[in-house]
Parts: sequence; structure tokens; C-alpha cells
Amino acid sequence: MTEELAAANEPLRIISLFTGAGGLDLGFEAAGCHTIAAVDNDPESCRTLRHNRPDWNVFEGDVREYSPVLRDVDLVIGGPPCQGFSSAGKGDPNDPRNFLWKEYFRIVKAVRPRGLVLENVSALTHRKNGDHLTGIISALEEAGYHFAMDVLNAADYGVPQNRRRLIVIGLRDGNPGLPVPTTADRPRTVREAIEDIDNKFDESWNHVPPKHAEHVAERWAKLKAGEVDPNYRRARLDYDKPSVTIRAGGGYGPRGDHLAGFHPPIHPTRPRQLTVREAARIQSFPDDWILKGSKTAQGRQIGNAVPVLLAEAIAKHVVDFLRSRDADASVRSA
Ligand SMILES: C[S@@+](CC[C@H](N)C(=O)[O-])C[C@H]1O[C@@H](n2cnc3c(N)ncnc32)[C@H](O)[C@@H]1O
Repeated sequence: MTEELAAANEPLRIISLFTGAGGLDLGFEAAGCHTIAAVDNDPESCRTLRHNRPDWNVFEGDVREYSPVLRDVDLVIGGPPCQGFSSAGKGDPNDPRNFLWKEYFRIVKAVRPRGLVLENVSALTHRKNGDHLTGIISALEEAGYHFAMDVLNAADYGVPQNRRRLIVIGLRDGNPGLPVPTTADRPRTVREAIEDIDNKFDESWNHVPPKHAEHVAERWAKLKAGEVDPNYRRARLDYDKPSVTIRAGGGYGPRGDHLAGFHPPIHPTRPRQLTVREAARIQSFPDDWILKGSKTAQGRQIGNAVPVLLAEAIAKHVVDFLRSRDADASVRSA
């Protein structure tokens, strides 16, 4: 093997911002990349990252205090927090958390990676958030990146879940566009994702049976597939369809009051909500990825994550493009 080919096989080096449970990073890892720095201010997410990937360099703290010292970075990836944009939250466009995308671009400008991937809720494209989207586009242009952006549905990329997210790919040298859907005609189903671990609580991590009040379980036992429990506004999943979006935030109580905790959809056949592991399967996380922290923290990490298979489709698309650029350049210089 020549030296050039060996270099071409080296993993691409990634700085990951707002890493959370690491869904985006796992997809990039599967595409042959290595996370050289991960930044998150949530201690429980950092515990998850350190537990599963002790070799990752995890900066636990506010991104505003992170100054990258690393050079030769191929990609910056990350999903700035979205509570202020999200249609699931109260959605104040002036929420201070909405401005963290500026930190993302501060770091991009400092390290000048070959490319970047930014993920966010689709609500960022809504008119009320227009100033933020315009700001992101200006930041991409000012930093010299060609970019493609659109709302992609994870169900079109092998994920058993309808989950629409804004994806931005920016590269300094060329524009690969966005990855082409692979499973739009035949999306994967909830059955394919979770049926094999039904009630096998001893066999998987984070697969603890939830406890519910008897009257709630009785009501949920009568719900049909796809039906929404009017009191808790939660859907029973349909085994033969993709899941509804798994969310990070709390749920709703019987009087419409907001509940803290982990409130995923209701299992397709059991009178209970999904376990964290079932939600993780629906987010296409591998079973050996262990979520740390309280059950609420585990659920938040899973609900916030980019589905691993969507991340992998994006990552492969970007990596293939960069590798082919490198191959062209090495032919030209030969
Ligand atoms: C949408 S989640 C990212 C999920 C992640 N991309 C994944 O695929 O698992 C956003 C993350 O940003 C983190 N975060 C929020 N504010 C932050 C800040 N000021 N500094 C660093 N991290 C922050 C949160 O703790 C959360 O884990």
C-alpha cells in the first residue's frame, strides 16, 4: 500500500459540539470518522459518552468556554439546542438558547474544518425563526462554505420513526447536496425495531419495565394502535408503522399540565410506555450503547439524539465526497 492510500484510510477527525448521547457521532464513527473532541454541558450526557467511548476527549462545560486548540480538523458536527425553536416547546425566538448556533460558527471559524454538519428541529425553518436561519446562512457564506440544507425524515434513511429534522451540510471544496432517501418506499416498522425484546427485561441495558397507576394501565390496555390517550396526549404505537417522533421533553398530565420526566409513546401491545431501550432502538442506537444517569436523563438523551442511521447516511455521503475529492487531487498531483 502506498503512503497516500494509507493516509486516505485514516479516520477523518471530528470536533463534536452539543454531543449529548452521541447519536450524531455514532453515525460518523460508522462512516470511518473519529471524534477527537466532544463538548456538552450536561453531566449525565458526558457520563454516557465517557462510559461508552473512554478514548474520546470529552469537554464537560459550556460551549461558550470552549476554545479549540486542535488543528487538522476535518469536520465540525453538532446540533445546537433547539428548545427555543422547537414547536414542542413554548417556542420563543428570543430564548437565549437559540443563539448558541453563533458559538458553533465561532468554533468553525477558529478551526476551519473541511466541512461541517449542523442538525436542528424543522421549526428552525418557520417564519418566526427566520432571523436565526438567515443568520446561519450568512455565517456559512462568511466562513466560505458551499452548503445544502433541507428537512429530512429519518424514516427515509432506515430509522423506524417519523422524525423530521433540518440538516445542513457545508463544505469548503464543493457541494455534495444531501443524501438520497433509501427507505422512503418501505420504511422500517416499530415491530422490526422492538418486538424481539418485548418483556425480556433482563436481557438489555436500560430496559426497565415502567410502573403506572392501575387506572392508567387499564385505559391504555383499551387503546387501539395509533390512538392517542386523551388524558395524557400520548399515542399508542402501531407495530406495523414507523414510530411517531421520540421526544426529549416531559409529557402532559390529565389537566394539560406539563410533566417532568420521561414520557415516550405507549407500547404497541402492552399497557405501558416504552422503556428507554425501546426508545433507543427506535432511535436506531445499538444495544451496547449504555445510557447513564437517572431514567429522566436517559430519556432526555435519547429523545434529543440524531438517529444513528440518519447520521450514518449523512456521514457516508460527506465522507465519500471528501474521499473522492482527495483521490482526484492525488491523481492530479501524480
Ligand atoms: C439536541 S442535543 C444534541 C444531541 C446529539 N447531537 C445527539 O445526536 O445525541 C443538544 C445538546 O446540547 C447540550 N447543550 C445545551 N446548551 C449547551 C451549552 N451552553 N454548552 C454545551 N452544551 C450545551 C445539551 O446538554 C444537549 O446534550
